[in-house]
Amino acid sequence: MTIVGAIAAGNAVVLKPSEVAPATSSLLSNLLGEYMDPSAVKVVEGGVPETTALLEQKWDKILYTGNGNVGRIILTAAAKHLTPVVLELGGKCPVVVDSNIDLKVAARRIIAGKWGSNNGQTCVAPDYVITTKEYAFKLIDALSSELENFYGKDPMQSKDLSRIINSRHFHRVTKLLDDKKISGKVVIGGQRDKANLKIAPTVILDAPHDSLIMNEEIFGPLLPIVTVNKIEDSFGLINSKGKPLAAYLFTNDKKLKEEFIRNVSAGGMAINDTVMHITEPTLPFGGVGESGMGAYHGKFSFDTFSHKKAVLQRGFTVDADIRYPPFTPGKVKLMRALLTGDILGIPRALIGL
Ligand SMILES: *[C@@H]1O[C@H](CO)[C@@H](O)[C@H](O)[C@H]1NC(C)=O
Ligand SMILES: *[C@@H]1O[C@H](CO)[C@@H](O)[C@H](O)[C@H]1NC(C)=O
Repeated sequence: MTIVGAIAAGNAVVLKPSEVAPATSSLLSNLLGEYMDPSAVKVVEGGVPETTALLEQKWDKILYTGNGNVGRIILTAAAKHLTPVVLELGGKCPVVVDSNIDLKVAARRIIAGKWGSNNGQTCVAPDYVITTKEYAFKLIDALSSELENFYGKDPMQSKDLSRIINSRHFHRVTKLLDDKKISGKVVIGGQRDKANLKIAPTVILDAPHDSLIMNEEIFGPLLPIVTVNKIEDSFGLINSKGKPLAAYLFTNDKKLKEEFIRNVSAGGMAINDTVMHITEPTLPFGGVGESGMGAYHGKFSFDTFSHKKAVLQRGFTVDADIRYPPFTPGKVKLMRALLTGDILGIPRALIGL
């Protein structure tokens, strides 16, 4: 948990869990209230009024996880006090699937990243897949059979799939699915149960670029697959959208892998997998561009909640005249030589600068 880094770096913490998950919010409030020193860790529960009141205070640092709209509100409020901010937002995280890979393992790893955690309701979940036209059908077959292995013939009955968090989000996700631009393009799933807030793992083939689903962060169990003529064409498609929090590539091709790492801008990446990079504590976790700013996890959390205070300490013994007026031509010449590096290897402090 991120607050461990904050506490390790010597901070007191006020935690505001999301009101969208009220049971988790109250569990955190009860457990942290019971086990943590209340003068160091406090939990504030509530919604917009509570968050607004918190944001009026002057903090040393604010870390927010969520969406870009609220991210902008946080950053604006923080600007009033010049408070530094870490924003972990989301975006459309792409998965590029090259041919000639171990399709079964790739399908399993895409499913685990997309539906395995919160049924697509995570910020690093695969948002859409890009593959070549001829490979798309193989990929759909592999996804279909592995989905059945994991969730049975009727995924709506599976105990291993999360519900949609609330009815507002259920409507948001089904609106993407009901867009006329993708009608007839559902190749896996599509079932929904409004009363129980369930939506089945759903794959959509060839969603047009101007469809809602290709322009909004999905944050739910829908997975559009878009096809390209050459796998290299995926780079331009990804870079035409806001920079994602994560980007994934499945390939056997070393050159493609290297170009992907170099040419695609994303908060983080996993090659031949999805999501797992965030479990690695030696890697910083954070966004770039529209997916956020700042990073944390492991030692990076400690660094994020620390200030690197620079302190120079000196004695009185050496106090060269060159630093003080009058600036004679001789002093200026020596100064210039020092600043341009003509005199190398002499620490400036040693000669009194
Ligand atoms: C990646 O960038 C390099 C250098 O800008 C360029 O030569 C290459 O074509 C790019 N690759 C792809 C697949 O876009
Ligand atoms: C991805 O998997 C393929 C097949 O096992 C392998 O050839 C390739 O080197 C892997 N890529 C990386 C970055 O490990």
